[in-house]
Amino acid sequence: SSSASSDVDAFLGCLSAAIPPSLIKTPATNSYSELLMSSVRNLRYVLPGTTRPFVIVAATEPAHVQTTVVCGRRHSVRIRTRSGGHDYEGLSYASVDPHEHFAVLDLGELRAIHIDASRAEAWVGSGATLGELYYAAAAANQTFGFPAGNCPTVGVGGHLSGGGFGALSRKYGLSADNVLDAVVVDAEGRLLNRSTMGKDLFWAIRGGGGESFGVVLSWKVRLVAVPETVTVFSIRRSRNQSAVDLITKWQAIAPALPRDLYLRVLVQNQQAAFVALFLGRCDRLVDTMRAHFPDLGMAERDCQEMSWVKSTVFFFFNTANIPNEVLLNRSNADYFLKVKSDHVQEPMPRQAWESLWSKWLEKPEAALVMLDPYGGVMGSISPSATPFPHRNYLYQLQFFSFWFENGTAALEKRMSWVRGVYEDLTPYVSKNPRAVYVNYRDLDLGTNELEGGVTSYAKARVWGEKYFKGNFKRLAAVKSKVDPFDFFRNEQSIPPLPAKK
Ligand code: FDA
Repeated sequence: SSSASSDVDAFLGCLSAAIPPSLIKTPATNSYSELLMSSVRNLRYVLPGTTRPFVIVAATEPAHVQTTVVCGRRHSVRIRTRSGGHDYEGLSYASVDPHEHFAVLDLGELRAIHIDASRAEAWVGSGATLGELYYAAAAANQTFGFPAGNCPTVGVGGHLSGGGFGALSRKYGLSADNVLDAVVVDAEGRLLNRSTMGKDLFWAIRGGGGESFGVVLSWKVRLVAVPETVTVFSIRRSRNQSAVDLITKWQAIAPALPRDLYLRVLVQNQQAAFVALFLGRCDRLVDTMRAHFPDLGMAERDCQEMSWVKSTVFFFFNTANIPNEVLLNRSNADYFLKVKSDHVQEPMPRQAWESLWSKWLEKPEAALVMLDPYGGVMGSISPSATPFPHRNYLYQLQFFSFWFENGTAALEKRMSWVRGVYEDLTPYVSKNPRAVYVNYRDLDLGTNELEGGVTSYAKARVWGEKYFKGNFKRLAAVKSKVDPFDFFRNEQSIPPLPAKK
């Protein structure tokens, strides 16, 4: 509409008063596409029909972020913040609404990492990747680690905003559990830290999901202790090598293992890979596996000893024979992506695994299935300590479907596989509500609708309680305080809590 285009012009004028033109990329500038695509991880959201930003602001200073928020408020232009661009549903750079005019605030250049080795703490810019953080921590001291995800190109900004789960989480919790301070630009364009933002906002930004509460510029995190040498293994079993039996047993065993041992399962190409990180040497790992999971037959020949930082390379690339500098590579292969995820409270019966295997896993379009154990520290943190409520499950279950061929046939096949499995597993997984981790965004759960100019709380509860259970209401209460006009908004942002009538 004409009013939208005059808002757009006024917004661009407002930006250019305070931000150098070289950092303001409209589609007419030749680096627009390159910047847009630089951290797109899901090609589904750059297909024709998805709406692109009319401008990308490549912020290099906190003031650029403040200006963008202030100009956006003044001229009714919404912004989507992007750190690493790994959102499963492309929420940081695309919209499915053809009428939405939005700007992307790209934080990729705000990625400084300062390590305070004497206190084992770090300040990390949201635009840094997990790989950059792991590399910098280990470069400061080989016994520093950080609990976060297994993919090195994930952005710190979105990841810490939604929780952050990985190989150290059974010992040290989520990334968000290890955040000590943060610098945030709020809906008024103010720069706040832990002491000025208040404890409710500080609670909400550590797991309440990206976008809703402001723009987090940087995070102060606690670095955790890892031994100089850790041990990993990856053991593959096919169906006729008892994969189904082993997975059935794994469900109760893995969450009860000592905290120093993380044992996940990846099912792909009809093989189950049991992949472990042990915070200790091979001999002790062999003893631990014999004591807890003798059926897997793990032995000394399976061990690979290495530094912790090398183990992060191994976990993603499935080999340790690459230099650690690969962690500094900010881009990775792009593919089409659809993920659904769940949580499991009681081991699924062997029969359920048998039928999952024959009915779904043998199909050529089967997704990568990831089983990640909880237990350990995960289970000892209160479900209301942070917005992430899913502390007491045995494990998390992910159907991660990625494919390279374009076209609706491929897309529909993959999407219906993922949705079909999710439906079929209903009797065996979390209930009332289905429990989903917010960093595994899934728009099938529902999307926001407006009511009186702001996001409807009643409608948002449908998806919101799946991500946050009882914490959803508190998140909405925080939203009413810090962004009552609902400026920071997307398909699944937190709505303000309506005032009691
Ligand atoms: P992106 O920039 O897309 O942002 C995600 C959301 O947060 C968007 O809504 C965005 O607007 C908002 N946002 C981004 N930066 C913000 C900021 N600074 N302030 C406020 N809001 C902000 N998770 C996990 O826990 N463990 C894992 O092992 C993995 N592994 C993994 C592998 C791969 C290949 C993918 C694609 C994803 C994962 N994830 C994961 C999920 C990942 O944690 C999740 O997608 C994060 O939100 C990604 O953060 P980015 O900054 O990269 O995303």
